[in-house]
Amino acid sequence: MNMSETLSEDEPRVGAIRIHKAEDFEGMRKAGRLAAECLDMLTEHVEPGVTTEHLDNLVREMVLDNGALSATIGYRGYRHATCISLNHVICHGIPGPKPLKNGDIMNIDVTVIIDGWHGDTSRMYFAGEPKVKARRLVGTTYQALMAGIETVKPGSTLRDIGRAIQTLAEGEGFSVVRDFCGHGLGRVFHEAPNVVHYAEYKDRWGGVHRAADTELKPGMFFTIEPMINDGKPDVKLLKDGWTAVSRDKSLSAQFEHSIAVTDDGYEIFTLSPKDMHQPPYN
Ligand code: MF3
Ligand code: CO
Ligand code: CO
Repeated sequence: MNMSETLSEDEPRVGAIRIHKAEDFEGMRKAGRLAAECLDMLTEHVEPGVTTEHLDNLVREMVLDNGALSATIGYRGYRHATCISLNHVICHGIPGPKPLKNGDIMNIDVTVIIDGWHGDTSRMYFAGEPKVKARRLVGTTYQALMAGIETVKPGSTLRDIGRAIQTLAEGEGFSVVRDFCGHGLGRVFHEAPNVVHYAEYKDRWGGVHRAADTELKPGMFFTIEPMINDGKPDVKLLKDGWTAVSRDKSLSAQFEHSIAVTDDGYEIFTLSPKDMHQPPYN
């Protein structure tokens, strides 16, 4: 293990959560901006007939053209610059040769590394004209992400984020996926804390699962990336070892931002420079 990449005793942290310095924000702004620009670039390319591996190639080239690295290529054996998760795929969909169809909805997730800092963000896209229900799921999922982000300030908790997301999603009759969560990031892609997207839920055996009431402190960097299903929240992993689908094949949506806790609230590192926050983009 390379000790320079792990927490050492003299680095500021609260529990296992790293507290970053003012100059670290500059690194995250650069990485976050490029990841967001990749998502902006994709908007005009997503349409029926296009393959998801074409979209992936566009991102891989743009990342390299900007002197950055894709964080996902080579990550635990993953080989692509994006995850593209179509319709009932919840996350970690693998780009491939199948052309998009009219009405498909998809999440495209990009993570880049610049000067060692990670920018991790995803948005939903429409191929053609999706059904009303699909549009409503996507709109609610975007609102849920933003409601979670708006709770972030020193002294509030991880559970407050989850509560805002769960309240919004379940209020619209949708469900929150429990098997994947947001994560700390910075010089490391995935680290403490786990950012779950619920406050509390009961499993089918009656066990109660509560989000941690960990207090937020300035200098914490993490993602919020809620996955919201039209049906039940349960997940199935396909045999490729990556693709996670909803067990009941219901539609699923996700948005993701990389953010910091600041002295008086939050900063979003991955905001769209072109104000392309949610579809439709044109
Ligand atoms: N970007 C994803 C996240 O939000 C992680 C993708 S890992 C991969 O954390 F290997 F599947 F690409
Ligand atoms: Co992430
Ligand atoms: Co991501």
